[in-house]
Amino acid sequence: MSQSNNLIIRRARILLPTGAFLSGDVRIQNGKIAEVTSAIAQDDDDNVTEIDATGLTLLPGVIDPQVHFREPGLEYKEDLFTASCACARGGVTSFLEMPNTRPLTTTQAMLDDKLQRAAQKCLVNYGFFIGATAENLPDLLTANPTCGIKIFMGSMKGDLLVDEETALEPIFAKGNRLIAVHAEDQARITQRRQEFAGITDPAIHSQIQDNQAALAATELALKLSKKYQRRLHILHLSTGEEAELLRQEKLDWVTAEVTPQHLLLNTSAYETIGTKAQMNPPLRSPQDNQILWQALLDGVIDFIATDHAPHTLEEKAKTYPDSPSGMPGVETSLPLMLTQAVQGRCTVAQVAHWMSTAVARAYKIPQKGLIEPGYDADLILVDLEHYHPVVREELRTKCGWSPFEGWDLTGWPMVTIVGGQVVYDHGKLNLEVRGKALKFADTD
Ligand code: DOR
Repeated sequence: MSQSNNLIIRRARILLPTGAFLSGDVRIQNGKIAEVTSAIAQDDDDNVTEIDATGLTLLPGVIDPQVHFREPGLEYKEDLFTASCACARGGVTSFLEMPNTRPLTTTQAMLDDKLQRAAQKCLVNYGFFIGATAENLPDLLTANPTCGIKIFMGSMKGDLLVDEETALEPIFAKGNRLIAVHAEDQARITQRRQEFAGITDPAIHSQIQDNQAALAATELALKLSKKYQRRLHILHLSTGEEAELLRQEKLDWVTAEVTPQHLLLNTSAYETIGTKAQMNPPLRSPQDNQILWQALLDGVIDFIATDHAPHTLEEKAKTYPDSPSGMPGVETSLPLMLTQAVQGRCTVAQVAHWMSTAVARAYKIPQKGLIEPGYDADLILVDLEHYHPVVREELRTKCGWSPFEGWDLTGWPMVTIVGGQVVYDHGKLNLEVRGKALKFADTD
């Protein structure tokens, strides 16, 4: 499917930067949004492709700021091609990927390797974190381009675990690029793992890695961020306690994210889907769900990430604690959140803000996250009028399962456009499309 450089989307319900909707047309030229208006005059140019978007809503493409795509080294779970196919289906036009691949992304050479692989294979746009170890401070200061430094304060083995305050301190002290933390207290987890040893019910996972473990690490990260006035992002905030803490003392330069699963699933999921509900930080109580929702609505939590972390069904079938933590998410996050909007829990404009606009702002990704002339044409047409369930056979992620199978959702993307190219159209992927490396204003 070859495509022209120019595209006109007609008769869409367009989300404007103000949050209002306009019924109208969008012209795309050379990968950029050129015009947004109620009606674009008929164009006789053969080089223009038209899309009839009657009944569909046009939103900025989702930017997923936390994914684990497993390449290099763990491609049997997922790779950059399959993951980006899943993104295209899920309306994710850009992603920020984590460094716990094999080898770890802790040097410029490994970052370059990932960028090169992505340029060859990725149907959507890509950016990568550099992982902190206790030893790679020089790499953390100079690596480029990167969306930021990832620190696993807990829930990690090997070099990527940086859990001692003495090792964290120099990372916060030097440099100024964004630090994103997986905030769980490893000492507490290790101690409680011993305490609860021998229990194979996966529900114990949420007690071993409890709310207190998450809160302690978030407190430490905030303390260091305050001391050094260092830009901090708290990944997958999971507890009511952390949300309340941020509500009280969130610094101007701190942001936080939440996953759809921490909003919509809780510890009751272990009864229905067993180890598929196992992730880090773990699922919490229904009360935590409520507090996280309120924090998101109030702006205490800034945006949404999936923490897409695919493991095979075979791995997930192991008995706890041998079963790995993590669940896929890029294909379901947008319809999950838009279903919440349609059912009245939030608005469609808020969902677009949390899943695109606010992410672009926080990571300083220029020209993304809004439908406005001059912005990149990373766009999605979603159907808010029909429901369709999450069906295992339709999933594009290599791991081939979802914790949300059977959930009846609306807001599925019908068309996904990356840089002005249609990459997904009513169930069909265009495998010729390639995304681009994201730019980050701080580092480029
Ligand atoms: O559950 C998780 N799995 N949480 C993480 O932060 C890492 C991830 C993985 O890579 O499997």
